[in-house]
Amino acid sequence: MNLLKTPKQHLVHKVFASIVERYELLNTILSMGQDAYWRKAVAKIADLKSNQIAIDLCTGTGSLAIELVKHIDTVSEGAPLTVVGIDFCDEMLSKARKKLDNPRYKGKVEFVNGLAEDIPFADNTFDCATIAFGLRNVENIQRTFSEMQRVVKPEGKIISLELVIPSSPIIRCFYYPYLKWILPFIGRLISKTGIPYQYLSDSISGFMSAQDLANIMISVGLKDVGWHNLSCGVAAIHVGCKLVSVQPSAISGQQISYHQSKGCLSCQP
Ligand SMILES: C[S@@+](CC[C@H](N)C(=O)[O-])C[C@H]1O[C@@H](n2cnc3c(N)ncnc32)[C@H](O)[C@@H]1O
Repeated sequence: MNLLKTPKQHLVHKVFASIVERYELLNTILSMGQDAYWRKAVAKIADLKSNQIAIDLCTGTGSLAIELVKHIDTVSEGAPLTVVGIDFCDEMLSKARKKLDNPRYKGKVEFVNGLAEDIPFADNTFDCATIAFGLRNVENIQRTFSEMQRVVKPEGKIISLELVIPSSPIIRCFYYPYLKWILPFIGRLISKTGIPYQYLSDSISGFMSAQDLANIMISVGLKDVGWHNLSCGVAAIHVGCKLVSVQPSAISGQQISYHQSKGCLSCQP
């Protein structure tokens, strides 16, 4: 079944299908090795227990889904399925499924074709929903958060890792030229094609601030919304919780220091 409906979805699908073989290498080079550290921070915040289940949207090659499983100390032969990763790009999912050859992850992670804005799972299924570097690419961010909220259980965590516009003007002075010239140049050099990296550069520089993203989470009714700035504010991890009964919240988003909070936000009623 073809899930793609809009021109943006077709473009995004084409971009990721064309860079699948080089995606992880390029991510590492372009983020200067920071992307792996950022995903680990998400897994630490999600803090999944062995009896819990999570969904990772826009899972791509499954790096965050795997990281979530790695975080659980008690992964063993008989442990139940822990993470479901969904993505609308079969090429990315095929690469992700290769990682399941490792017996440590087999049976703990499943990769499914699906749309972030229309998650193919029932309400209140998961303890946690994550998305890494996906929100910039989806058609509708608000709808994606609403869907994440729908599929997590009451009190469940909703976590996003995303590149955002840094709040510091000094950082922006260096970051914008990097996005405009260096990122597409390195991307072209390694992937031998420039279009996907021009798209990525444009999608990052045209994205929003951490505060704007938090406001969207609040607008869909998430509670305890906050974020951790990472790497001088070029990336941020946003966290929110599902209310017991969902209703629009008046709480305003607040910045949380990753180091001060030791990376763990709890969701208390
Ligand atoms: C930048 S990659 C991120 C991959 C992975 N989360 C990571 O941490 O590396 C974005 C992924 O989102 C997927 N994607 C974009 N829009 C989507 C949508 N609306 N529904 C499902 N997947 C989507 C793309 O196919 C791509 O694999």
